[in-house]
Amino acid sequence: MNTQLSEAPVREAATNGPGPAIRLATLPAGGAAPTVDAAPEYVVELRDVSCYYGAFRAVRNVDIKVAKNAITALIGPSGCGKSTLLRTINRMNDLVPSYRSEGQIMLDGQDLFAKEVDPVAVRRRVGMVFQKPNPFPKTIWENVAFGPKVNGYKGNLNELVETSLRRAALWDDVKDKLKQSGMSLSGGQQQRLCIARTIAVNPEVILMDEPCSALDPRSTLQIEELMAELKREYTIVIVTHNMQQAARASDTTVFMTMGEDRAGFVVEQGPTAQIFTNPRNQLTEDYVSGRFG
Ligand SMILES: Nc1ncnc2c1ncn2[C@@H]1O[C@H](COP(=O)(O)OP(=O)(O)OP(=O)(O)O)[C@@H](O)[C@H]1O
Ligand SMILES: [Mg+2]
Repeated sequence: MNTQLSEAPVREAATNGPGPAIRLATLPAGGAAPTVDAAPEYVVELRDVSCYYGAFRAVRNVDIKVAKNAITALIGPSGCGKSTLLRTINRMNDLVPSYRSEGQIMLDGQDLFAKEVDPVAVRRRVGMVFQKPNPFPKTIWENVAFGPKVNGYKGNLNELVETSLRRAALWDDVKDKLKQSGMSLSGGQQQRLCIARTIAVNPEVILMDEPCSALDPRSTLQIEELMAELKREYTIVIVTHNMQQAARASDTTVFMTMGEDRAGFVVEQGPTAQIFTNPRNQLTEDYVSGRFG
């Protein structure tokens, strides 16, 4: 299922040598970036998804389509269920005992909630980057190699570590200190290390929950540039409170809010430019213009 992702980028990047390999490694054969055309292919589709913590319904009746090789931004006020929804997409919320969800989440046409689906396999296909950079207390090399090792990766681990670090735009910063602790890096570097760790296991989708909220403006911009590169190979869903970031970095925006019962729901979704310049719903307009939230 994932073969086109698992083989090609590693081979390409391994032969690129030093330099701005992130660009070379991720450019498709023709050199042009894939564009999101009028009929995009959807990788993930949420159908009537509701999320509960015990009796509390945190998210209700969400329908979202996530386009392939694009960045989808999830915005909305605090507590409307953005993180809950994101953690549902890779079944990470299964780890919360009181949690359950309803509806369907289709990944490449397969329902992730189906009985036979192994949540651990889902987390391999749908990687996640968190708000606070959370490298393991291990070396930089180990941080990246850990996931592939656990998955029984049979290829050349050194090459895979290098490729992943290059694609996370971190190789030049760390190539001479791979044995140092991942915790010794700056916050922005740690976040790129976590991105390298995520892509080392070749997920199809990368979920990012406010990945820049702990970073300074320069590191934030670096991550945004990196996302623009990564979407050539991956499908990205990002939660952000930063309206400029959503407007700058995403192709599609989903605006959520919550009702009086505090259950979050989707108000509007569409091309980012439309959501920010010509929203259809007054609630969206109030939120993106800063009048609410
Ligand atoms: N582990 C949990 N157990 C019980 N309730 C939870 C849990 N996690 C989140 N909730 C509740 O679910 C609702 C949605 O929370 P969530 O963290 O998904 O919101 P959010 O949109 O990500 O907010 P923020 O923008 O502040 O990160 C909130 O009412 C929250 O209190
Ligand atoms: Mg959150």
